[in-house]
Amino acid sequence: SAGKIGDELDLQVYAVGGFVRDLLLGTENLDIDITVEGDGILFAETFASRFGCRCKGHIKFGTAVIVFPDGFKIDVASTRLEYYETPAALPVVERSSLKMDLYRRDFTINTLAIQLNQSDFGLLIDYFGAQRDLQEQNIRVLHNLSFVEDPTRVFRAIRFEQRLGFHIARHTENLIKNAVKMDFLHKLGGKRLLSELVIIFKERDPFGAVERMANLGLLRFIHPVLKLDAMNRRLLEEVKPVISWFELLFLDRKYEKWVVYFLALCEILTHDEFIEVCKRLAVSEHYREKLAEMRRLGERVLDAFNRRGAKCRPLQPSEIYRLFNDLAVEVLLYLMARTKSEEAKKALSLYFTKLQGVHTILTGDDILALGVARGPMVGELLEQLLAARLNGAVMSRDDELNFIRQ
Ligand code: CTP
Repeated sequence: SAGKIGDELDLQVYAVGGFVRDLLLGTENLDIDITVEGDGILFAETFASRFGCRCKGHIKFGTAVIVFPDGFKIDVASTRLEYYETPAALPVVERSSLKMDLYRRDFTINTLAIQLNQSDFGLLIDYFGAQRDLQEQNIRVLHNLSFVEDPTRVFRAIRFEQRLGFHIARHTENLIKNAVKMDFLHKLGGKRLLSELVIIFKERDPFGAVERMANLGLLRFIHPVLKLDAMNRRLLEEVKPVISWFELLFLDRKYEKWVVYFLALCEILTHDEFIEVCKRLAVSEHYREKLAEMRRLGERVLDAFNRRGAKCRPLQPSEIYRLFNDLAVEVLLYLMARTKSEEAKKALSLYFTKLQGVHTILTGDDILALGVARGPMVGELLEQLLAARLNGAVMSRDDELNFIRQ
């Protein structure tokens, strides 16, 4: 149907990029990108009105998003020539042909297009040897200035290499090394750098990509003292089983996997250095302070576990609850991967499986209504009641009432 509308408007319409790459690889990809030779916004508007979709156009870039009633989206672009007046600046945009449009892309494997117009429907267009590189499993740039124009591509190269199990071609790797040597990556803004790292840390197994970043000397662009040594290599490897355990246990629990990897990567940093990294990556001040504080707190808790001798009495569930309850899930998972103490691991596991989310049946209002306490005493009583519940001393509402009345 996209092709039919293209025919009516006398526009050449193509599916392009990652969608076609993954189609040839037999991998699911629901991100459909359409490129139109000519006015892409006109195409998107016509398509949207015909099929009851919404359409949001971006005139400056000649792009539009078609949004279906069920939320499904298709991105539409007009063929365009982007060039960069200075390295790492925003591109200047002009209209051009499909071939020129594909030429400006990052890697050959992303330059495939499929014609959607009816007369040639399904025709695979391969100007730059993409099929060969898919077969030979190569990540290869189209021209020597690719990484200079857009340094985020260095991280994209690593991401595709690791995700697809391909390898960065030799010349392309040399260009990366050159970009590293020439310090181009310092020009990369914090936000863009963070968003590349977040995507990498959201991949199924980010460890290989971190190792590759370390080998290519990229970590110093995140922070000068970041490195991959035996200790945080072990930690980064430990994150994956911890995350698998957590995801299996709490199937629908929302959390940010990337933060766990980020904390693991930053293990060797001091508190101040951690703040610096967050600043470099333009993490919002609010989140930065919160995360840094939780990280510090969490590390203190682990230290305390390490100091406990074999003869110490076991911690009560209520004590474990108090240790962990102010920490976000991401920080707890990081601690779980990090600690070598069996006792700390068990405590974290107990917290996740049994203690988090436990609350009393009686509320502050109930206690006020019973007339047994007033003011701050109410809060204290509630806390004692919660501790009793965590430790299994009260089970029912009646137990709680008896506890309060004692
Ligand atoms: N692209 C590029 N340079 C960048 C970012 C993107 O040339 N720095 C191009 C790529 O060729 C890519 C297209 O823009 O095919 C769309 O980008 P994106 O949606 O990020 O890439 P996908 O290939 O779809 O990757 P993913 O599978 O991770 O979504």
